[in-house]
Amino acid sequence: MPLKPTWRRRAALALPLLFALLLAGCGDTSITDITHTPNMLDPKGPIALKESDLFWIILIIATAVFVIVVSVLIYSIIRYRARPDSPEPTQTHGNTRIEIAWTIAPSVVLAVVLVATITTMFQIQQPQSPNTITVNAVGHQWWWEFQYPDQHFVTADEMWVPTNTVVHINLVSNNVIHSFWVPQLTGKTDVIPGHDNQMWLQADSQGWFRGECAEFCGTQHAHMDFLVHAVSSSDYQTWVSQQQQLAAQPTDSVAQAGAKFFTTSACIGCHAINGVTTTDASRLIGPNLTHFGSRQWIAGGVVDNTPTNLAAWIRDPQTVKDGADMPAFPQLTDDQINELVAYLESLK
Ligand code: CUA
Repeated sequence: MPLKPTWRRRAALALPLLFALLLAGCGDTSITDITHTPNMLDPKGPIALKESDLFWIILIIATAVFVIVVSVLIYSIIRYRARPDSPEPTQTHGNTRIEIAWTIAPSVVLAVVLVATITTMFQIQQPQSPNTITVNAVGHQWWWEFQYPDQHFVTADEMWVPTNTVVHINLVSNNVIHSFWVPQLTGKTDVIPGHDNQMWLQADSQGWFRGECAEFCGTQHAHMDFLVHAVSSSDYQTWVSQQQQLAAQPTDSVAQAGAKFFTTSACIGCHAINGVTTTDASRLIGPNLTHFGSRQWIAGGVVDNTPTNLAAWIRDPQTVKDGADMPAFPQLTDDQINELVAYLESLK
């Protein structure tokens, strides 16, 4: 019995999906686990929840189709296999009833999938919560800058949001196309130069959620991750007030030496530190470092923000993240690097 090609394709698709499910671990969003691949089937916000619901609906339909088609196939292979001395089978040409059946059945299946998909698309268009904030997510090669236009500060690599609040995100790029994706909170939206896309997300529970760039954007596309930290409304306010402050004055002598070196070296050509540097921050290509010491990651999550990793990064960023805009400074002595590390890590 011949199989309609679309059924075969469906069956072929269902198998990898089943394996993917078996391989998908349970999601956990504690800070120690954020380096793990986030699980889109462990949704923590309304959009991701709707999208994972849709995934399950289609997976169940696809699995049913797969099981039915393969069962009939295996039955036919065994039941109607050639045997010694078996006569030539009856030759037929066309069967109107079967032709109609295998046209209608896939149409019904596809109609169900279509309705479920369109319904989900409409459901995730409109945010429900009346509480809102706005964040501009700027895609660089290869890290994310987060501007809070209403609160007047800028950060990088991590964006904090209050729970149960609609976060309107303006997606901006002045280089190549990126894609903004937080699997546990929302699907992907392209970040296109010259065409600012908008999206929204909402976190219903507290935690760290890993986001990634989902559009190939150059050699370090895989190291263009970011963190969304969903916290209570009061913790969010505390964080905002802290981010709005000018950079802390270093207290120990090593960090003070680092501060002096930072402001008199090439660092200020690319990086702003509010209250310390004077160049218009919006014209600098590197991340704003005003509260660098409070961040979890360096350079789009390529390494954790630890003094050792930061020292290696300053010594030669290209060995840590080949192709990054920051060049190596081979003339720096160990003492100078230690001073810079002490200063930058003190910027909480
Ligand atoms: Cu940015 Cu991939």
